[in-house]
Formats: sequence, structure tokens, C-alpha cells
Amino acid sequence: MRQQVTIMEHPLIQHKITRMRKTETSTKEFRELVSEVSMLICYEATKNLPLTEVEIETPLTKMKAVELSGKKLCVVPILRAGLHMADSILHLIPNARIGHIGMYRDEETLQPVEYLCKLPTDIKERVVYVVDPMLATGGSAISAINQLKQRGITNLTFLCLIAAPEGVEAFTKAHPDVPVYIGALDSHLNEHGYIVPGLGDAGDRIYGTN
Ligand code: PRP
Ligand code: URA
Repeated sequence: MRQQVTIMEHPLIQHKITRMRKTETSTKEFRELVSEVSMLICYEATKNLPLTEVEIETPLTKMKAVELSGKKLCVVPILRAGLHMADSILHLIPNARIGHIGMYRDEETLQPVEYLCKLPTDIKERVVYVVDPMLATGGSAISAINQLKQRGITNLTFLCLIAAPEGVEAFTKAHPDVPVYIGALDSHLNEHGYIVPGLGDAGDRIYGTN
């Protein structure tokens, strides 16, 4: 199976990610940037959604137009940091449902620890976008997709803002059937499992904790 890994090259995305990376960027601006980049990546990730023809009337005439073909959508953020991405993506797809997967990385082992999984009851019928700003070792994203697949969910796509090559390799090996959209692909992971050059701890920068 040929995996679809898309790394964004759009200048707006690159510019905004550069601003996100800067130490001096404030929490407020960081949040705004996460929001803007998430929407831009979502725009790309939804480009193949099916359309159906509909007859409508403009103030001037009748016409055959197109609209989304009733495909139901769902956004599943990996908490905490994915939550702000999901909120932003809802501006583009306001009728989407939201599922939540709560997970944090154990600081010693770097293994994901799950503490919540709450999903819409009809999620199996939906196109599902799993979102998390950071794909570092890949452990959190792999485990989140495992959780969803175990529940019979098949139409899955993963969106992140920054990825490490190690995380991309692990993710694509574990889930070769899941398309991945990445805002920027960085150099490597450091000895603490942080993405270098990265932007630090995404959750801390969004919520102003540390
Ligand atoms: C961050 C990030 C991912 C995870 C990525 O979350 O938002 O979920 O680390 O690392 P991985 O690819 O090595 O698993 P974190 O564990 O810091 O939790 P938080 O969002 O609650 O801050
Ligand atoms: N989680 C983060 O928030 N940042 C990293 O660089 C790695 C994992």
C-alpha cells in the first residue's frame, strides 16, 4: 500500500510555523498561529471530500452547483494540545462531531498513557481527522489510531503541525493505511524525545503552562 504523507510547502504555512517556533512568541499569538495553520492544513486534507450536484437559485438564475455530499465528518483531538487544533478546524467544518482521546507522554519512558476516550456513537460512519500538533516518537498518534481502529473506525487521517522523521517512520510503519498531513518536517528528536528544532512543548505553549 502506498502511504500518503503530505508535507505542506505553502509559504503561508511555513511563515506561520516559523513564528510559532520563536521563543519570544506570546501565548496569545501562539494560539492564533496554531489556529491558522490548523485551518490551512485542514483545507489541504479535505481536498478530496466528495461533492454532489444540487440545483439552486441565485438572485439571477437557477443553476447546477455542488455541495459536500453529505459525508459526515468527525475531528478527534489528542488532548491536551490537539484540542485547540480541533476548535480551529471547526471553523471550516462546523457540522463535524468531536471525539476526545486524552493521552500524555510519560516523561521517563516516553510511552503514551491514555486517560480518556470519548467518541460520537456514529463515528464509524464518519470521515475522521485525528489531530495533534506534534508527532515526535509517534507513540501518542500510533496509540490513538490503534484505539480508533479497535473500535472499527476505518476512514482515518492524521494531521499535525510539526513532525520528526523518527515519528513519521514509526507512524507509517504502524498505520500505512492512514494518510498524514504535516505542517513541517524537522531534523530529529533530542535525548528527551523533543523535536529539534521544534517549538518546545506544544501544550505548554498553547495553555501557558510549563
Ligand atoms: C505532546 C504532543 C503529543 C505528544 C507527541 O503531548 O501534543 O500528544 O506529546 O509525542 P510522541 O509522538 O512522542 O508521543 P504531551 O504528552 O506533552 O501532553 P499534553 O498535550 O497534555 O501536554
Ligand atoms: N511533545 C511536544 O509538545 N513537543 C515535542 O517536541 C515533543 C513532544
